[in-house]
Amino acid sequence: MSDIDAVILVGGKGTRLRPLTLSAPKPMLPIAGVPFLTHLLSRIRAAGIEHVILGTSYRAEVFSEYFGDGSAFGLSIDYVVETEPLGTGGGIRHVAPYLHGDTALVFNGDVLSGVDLRELLARHEENSADVTLYLTRVADPRAFGCVPTRPDGRVTAFLEKQANPVTDQINAGAYVFRRPVLEAIPAGRPVSVERETFPALLAAGARVFGHIDSSYWRDLGTPADFVAGSADLVRGIAPSAALPGPVGRRLILPGAVVDADATVSGGSTIGAGARVEAGAVVDGAVLFDGAVVLAGAVVRRSIIGRDAVIGSGSVIQDAVIGDRVRIGAANELLHGARVWPDASIPDGALRFSAPDA
Ligand code: GTP
Repeated sequence: MSDIDAVILVGGKGTRLRPLTLSAPKPMLPIAGVPFLTHLLSRIRAAGIEHVILGTSYRAEVFSEYFGDGSAFGLSIDYVVETEPLGTGGGIRHVAPYLHGDTALVFNGDVLSGVDLRELLARHEENSADVTLYLTRVADPRAFGCVPTRPDGRVTAFLEKQANPVTDQINAGAYVFRRPVLEAIPAGRPVSVERETFPALLAAGARVFGHIDSSYWRDLGTPADFVAGSADLVRGIAPSAALPGPVGRRLILPGAVVDADATVSGGSTIGAGARVEAGAVVDGAVLFDGAVVLAGAVVRRSIIGRDAVIGSGSVIQDAVIGDRVRIGAANELLHGARVWPDASIPDGALRFSAPDA
């Protein structure tokens, strides 16, 4: 594995997870007790890869402040910063000068997956491929890039977000590149690997293969996927070697206080210093550090930002509550509701469901 570099694209703005991504980039949001990226790095390390390059842009400094040179994680990490975001393909090309070896294993920084990385790399070698795409099957492929393959695994097309998909195989957000192929991506301008690089490689007859894997997979780009992925990590359904405590119905981080008469279930995470009072229900939810759920409040499948307070008897369901928000008693925020940081909502003021829910 010494000639394999792992490249992780972490430069996106994470707009779908706003307002949480206003202060931290998406891969640094805490999930099951640690920044999401820690789970991916633990899998890279477990596969025997030591050199990681992070392709950063938005809030680049947050990554290096936390991971440093990587030695605490058994890794050597280089940070490459795009002053203007170069897109997924541009971001991959931009790290080329930092590669040590001849093969790059590239990841989108927001995918939670159990794929066997050694097997993915082995398949790439066996096929003498230029690029190997990690593919997974989903029930509804319409929102993804569909990637049909021949029986020998050779990719025949790359079809972004089709109304009538021709296959249930989708781009799972990890790729193996032969170095010269990566270096042939145009430099210095935005490039989409999905819309430009892969279609161009196929048109040119390059050896592009798919590796179909059926282990756990989830893209954590939306609030619904973020809470579901978090609950899957806590319940041990999604694999990670980076969990800070035992897995099960819930994860309660050090310094959190949960009243004996509160119900915390469904793989919820209660952040450090957070508090859940008597009679409250927290189900399949994520409470960031210092968040408070007062007596009798209900929080389901939602993310509660740092130091936010949910008032007594309020119901928060499928919602995103920003850092330091104060929600008074007896409010209802349902189905896609989002509250921006520092907002204050008086008692009984809101019965809110997002219009597009
Ligand atoms: P949304 O704004 O919610 O779509 O999120 P996003 O900005 O993260 O975009 P998306 O989920 O499509 O990105 C997939 C992966 O590529 C994520 O890990 C992003 O951090 C990363 N990414 C997206 N655009 C760029 C970019 O311009 N440069 C780099 N280095 N990474 C990017």
